Amino acid sequence: MNSSEQTVYSDTVVRQFSIMAVVWGVVGMLVGVIIACQLAWPELNFGIPWLSYGRLRPLHTNAVIFAFGGCALFATSYYVVQRTCHTVLFMPKLAAFTFWGWQLVILAAAVSLPMGFTQGKEYAELEWPIDILIAVVWVSYAVVFFGTVGTRKVKHIYVANWFFAAFIIAVALLHIVNSAAIPSGWMKSYSAYAGAQDAMVQWWYGHNAVGFFLTAGFLGMMYYFIPKQAGRPVYSYRLSIVHFWALIFTYMWAGPHHLHYTALPDWTQSLGMVFSLVLLAPSWGGMINGIMTLSGAWHKLRDDPILRFLIVSLSFYGMSTFEGPMMAIKTVNALSHYTDWTVGHVHSGALGWVGLVSMGSIYFLIPKLFGRKEMFSVKAIEVHFWLATIGIVLYIAAMWIAGVMQGLMWRAINADGTLTYTFVESVKATYPFYVIRVAGGLLYFSGMLIMLWNVVKTATSGNTVLVTIPAPAHA
Ligand code: HEM
Ligand code: HEM
Repeated sequence: MNSSEQTVYSDTVVRQFSIMAVVWGVVGMLVGVIIACQLAWPELNFGIPWLSYGRLRPLHTNAVIFAFGGCALFATSYYVVQRTCHTVLFMPKLAAFTFWGWQLVILAAAVSLPMGFTQGKEYAELEWPIDILIAVVWVSYAVVFFGTVGTRKVKHIYVANWFFAAFIIAVALLHIVNSAAIPSGWMKSYSAYAGAQDAMVQWWYGHNAVGFFLTAGFLGMMYYFIPKQAGRPVYSYRLSIVHFWALIFTYMWAGPHHLHYTALPDWTQSLGMVFSLVLLAPSWGGMINGIMTLSGAWHKLRDDPILRFLIVSLSFYGMSTFEGPMMAIKTVNALSHYTDWTVGHVHSGALGWVGLVSMGSIYFLIPKLFGRKEMFSVKAIEVHFWLATIGIVLYIAAMWIAGVMQGLMWRAINADGTLTYTFVESVKATYPFYVIRVAGGLLYFSGMLIMLWNVVKTATSGNTVLVTIPAPAHA
């Protein structure tokens, strides 16, 4: 036996993050269903301030993005970096700190947002003491991840790690720059920026939160778990490198598409639009690379529900990264902005891409982490897949129709120049689509409950295994 084979991977933290990803997924999506119900039946806030829509909405976005998505990203990056670098985590105690620190951030968010504490910046609502904790946890995460890459036993750095690395560096940069604020009390602060600059910095952050938190990290998952589950190498390794550089270069410039027709200088809006259109190419390059990895193994899609989660996630990735550049065109944005079309776009990316790729990766991980050959119930994965897929289609189709309808109603004018419809008429026309969204959300959420049950069953019926490190390929 080679000496390196006796070393054991640091998987406790991977297990903890994987389980919490599922738990926070259930919580965040439950809050999503509640706010979807409140939009259809506003009296469901029962007149209680901390149940009001304005406070629960940021609770939903923070819980699904940073708690569910974040835990899934920590779990998979820690798992992948050890396997592909043939080594154990650098500073495992610091890795344990990132787990407890991140859970503390989530709890602080879950308490402070319903209480009404907010900086009022979308996806960056948390007040300054929590922001400092996030920065400390994130820098520790960077030390563990890059330390592990630095102490690798193989020469090559596999492409999944490049995506995880870009995600970790960019999020640190975005968070620290956008959160710069002057405190004026324990839970109150004022942004360091003002006016148009504040808006520009916020949407540089916001769009790159999409590009690096909701995309680059999950592409890291895609490049490891699809080849593994399909039992095939990545379709084109060369394309994956081009994909990487093109994607991270282009994303940084596209933020102004969130601020079309505002006080932002016109040329910055046009620049944002052009870079958003360019972004279609690397996004689709990556999607094609992932899907084509299945060449010669398409038949596996028929009876492998985990692979189906992973591949369908890429189809939604392709769909939302086609739609995004279209919505970034100023004339299209004039119709879509402020409407539910944006919410439909968000959830085709969030439920379809981020949600499904995370679920597929966690289904791959859980049996391996808890010493079973496969999940407790493969049938339940199948049921989850269909509930999620039908749920997404109902959600996004309802929002697309509602969004285009709202945009058209708001701009319709009579021959004498007066508005054809009052605003409240557009709200009334939207009502059935809000009810359909609730139905779609409930299906998606019930799939998540099944996943929680299946994960708990698998974790409690397996023997936790200590996985050893294989000798490097060239040894
Ligand atoms: C059961 C599943 C879900 C339901 C029912 C749901 C429902 C909702 C609702 C009702 C809104 C508010 C829309 C508005 O203000 O008009 C919302 C916003 C949002 N949700 Fe979800 N959601 C779900 C899952 C997710 C997931 C998994 C993610 C991310 C991974 C996500 C990310 C977001 C984001 C980013 C927004 C803000 C959108 C914007 O500002 O345009 N959601 N969601
Ligand atoms: C090529 C890629 C993409 C481009 C060019 C793009 C472009 C856009 C545009 C133009 C908007 C509407 C801005 C507005 O009118 O306010 C938007 C909103 C949004 N997109 Fe994308 N998108 C892309 C991919 C994605 C993906 C993959 C996701 C999710 C995983 C996503 C999540 C969001 C979110 C959360 C918002 C709402 C932001 C807010 O107002 O709160 N986008 N995107």
